[in-house]
Amino acid sequence: MLAKRNKKSVILGLNGWMERGHDASACLLVDGKIIAFAEEERFTRKRYSYDSLPLNAIAYCLEEGQVSVDEIDKVVYGWNIPKTYKMRRGVFPFSNEQILEQLFPSNLYKYTNLPPLEFIDHHLAHAASSYRLSGFNEASILVLDGQGEDASGTLAYAENGEIKIIAKIPISFSLGYMMEAACKHIGLRTSDVGKLMGLAGHGKKAGVFDNIVLTEKLYSINGFADDNDLIGESLDEQERVASQWRRYFLQRYPFDVTRKYKFDNLKGSIVSEINYNQQHKDFAYSVQKTLEEVVIHLAKILIKKTGCKNLTIAGGIGLNCTTNGRLISEGIVKNLFVQPAANDAGVSIGAALEIAHRDFGYRFKRLKNIYLGPRYKDWQIRMTLDRLKIPYRRVKDIYRLAAKSLSEGKIVGWFQGRMEGGPRALGNRSILANPRIKNMHKIVNEIKSRENWRPLAPSILEEYIGDYFEETALSPFMLQNHRVRPQKAKEIPAVVHKDLTARYQSVSRDSNRAYYLLIKNFYELTGTPIVMNTSFNIGGEPLVCTPEQAIKAFYGSAIDCLALGNYWITKNEK
Ligand SMILES: [Fe+2]
Repeated sequence: MLAKRNKKSVILGLNGWMERGHDASACLLVDGKIIAFAEEERFTRKRYSYDSLPLNAIAYCLEEGQVSVDEIDKVVYGWNIPKTYKMRRGVFPFSNEQILEQLFPSNLYKYTNLPPLEFIDHHLAHAASSYRLSGFNEASILVLDGQGEDASGTLAYAENGEIKIIAKIPISFSLGYMMEAACKHIGLRTSDVGKLMGLAGHGKKAGVFDNIVLTEKLYSINGFADDNDLIGESLDEQERVASQWRRYFLQRYPFDVTRKYKFDNLKGSIVSEINYNQQHKDFAYSVQKTLEEVVIHLAKILIKKTGCKNLTIAGGIGLNCTTNGRLISEGIVKNLFVQPAANDAGVSIGAALEIAHRDFGYRFKRLKNIYLGPRYKDWQIRMTLDRLKIPYRRVKDIYRLAAKSLSEGKIVGWFQGRMEGGPRALGNRSILANPRIKNMHKIVNEIKSRENWRPLAPSILEEYIGDYFEETALSPFMLQNHRVRPQKAKEIPAVVHKDLTARYQSVSRDSNRAYYLLIKNFYELTGTPIVMNTSFNIGGEPLVCTPEQAIKAFYGSAIDCLALGNYWITKNEK
């Protein structure tokens, strides 16, 4: 361990709670620098980490930063958990000491004193997570999610490092809960909002929901109870809002959802898939259009009020790539920064940044990448391969070999460097394929047990964006949808969605050298500076974290080759 005197400030940001918790994560900030960030699900292999403390993520962060519990200046949660308990039950039953003893179990950590613990408002943590990493001095800030304590949205403005809240949106009008209710209406889980977005791309006709009234101030929803009177009366605001939407959907979109069943070899069990018809697709399209109209309206109101066209977004709605794409292509914003972990996992980052600024005066540069998770050196990878008796080759130019295999139509598991945080695979834990082969879309979706109607995304060398897209905006975190140039759509059929758009990731040598070199080699071999990129996981598991998990996913699926650091593994290697 480094001596404490070498560190001016050590802050541990957290998300994840035992009740109503999800997306548990931890983030370590030392002297104003993000040293580590990871989601708990990557370690426990339980997706979204419902109702969990981020114990494994904390252990990882402290180890990565070589930090002891005694050295931590503050532990901060990106939720005001005592406030949520008081809203619902009137009392918060835990002392800080009790919570800290859970977070740092005495059988794992030795310490003299426990650090101070603070809870900050959820939307402030979201706002800080985007503004403080945007690189903007001045910004309009939009936070939109299901719910953060007593609001479902927050409009804010920041200048010279100070964030000021301008307006809050009541829980009844929650866009996050609207999306979740829509998912349930067509047979998806509430966590399947991304799937709903994919289905919307197959829609032909859309109508904005007629109960939503856009006003000069914000917006309202006809017939929905104003929750500010109801907080404290209802134990479950989410269920109350969902039931209001359920009634509306049943009246306006009364359709049945049927399923077909098949045996999934990967899971070794029977799985079901929903039979979607055009009615369902048009419904998804309507949900998407409604969301876009409301978010764009809010962005316009906010920008009019602040006079600042630098916009930052966080909260789960920030992951809606089509909306983000429109904000840029329609010129509503001048500059857009969407926090790559816009979901609740990202509030551990935001909470830590907020305290680093407030208590220690730190300012932060624009976030270049989010490769902040565990890394494995070549010797560690080799030890795992030897232990598991896996045949392998160590290669000098892994980029060339992987690119050649992709050009030949092989599917490659690509495991390099530090694991990425956030919901998108960004080229360190990715399954890659050749976007020029039309059938590749179907093959990769089958490998991953994904529905065939779901799109797959491209990673493109950033200098070629304008050649392939009707937009030149950088998108290093894969958070914007843009139209593909029609004359180029035929070149990359496997990554063009039904509506002629794609959610691209722009890759630079600066942001990810290994991934850049791989795509560059693919370009030299094929003339296309693009590869298909989907997350390295199978059967709906969290993204792989360790070499062992990557090997397991590789042998449990039809992935052809695996690049683990500089080691190359194929299924016919002897
Ligand atoms: Fe949130």
